[in-house]
Amino acid sequence: MHERSIQASYRVYDSISDMSAEDQELLTSARDSLSRSYAPYSNFQVAAAARMQGGEILVGTNQENAAYGQCLCAEQNVLANAGTNLFGEPVTALAVTARHSERKMDYPVTPCGACRQVMREHEDRNKHHIRVILQGESGEIFVFETVKDLLPLSFSSKDIL
Ligand code: THU
Repeated sequence: MHERSIQASYRVYDSISDMSAEDQELLTSARDSLSRSYAPYSNFQVAAAARMQGGEILVGTNQENAAYGQCLCAEQNVLANAGTNLFGEPVTALAVTARHSERKMDYPVTPCGACRQVMREHEDRNKHHIRVILQGESGEIFVFETVKDLLPLSFSSKDIL
């Protein structure tokens, strides 16, 4: 028997102004989209902004439903949009932010497991890593250079194709 360890690294920014102009724009686009979230059940609004390889920015928000199982996460929403309307064009960066009507989100909200799996598939399918930028309403900003650092040992197309 022997042990292995998994390492993942990410950068932490204290201020948006320390980031590149492109990433600032992306995170700001996500923040500006929060009001388009439909979250009457959780009161937890999430927005994701995707930077396409061609430079375009697409946005998505969480869209809830009275039948809770049909709730759609912001990240999956924007990646489905990118995969359809800009078919074959890689997402190169994805900024995600969130706010809650009853408490202050002063730390980054990290994507749920299902969203990480969908993000991983987008990386594989389009053969490009996605830089993932995460911030709450305020506070630290986490930057992961690839989804693989958010989902180590992941199941993927390599296992079945
Ligand atoms: N949500 C997202 O949009 N992304 C995530 O990564 C986690 C959760 C949404 C789904 C639901 O509308 C609300 O947040 C509460 O779970």
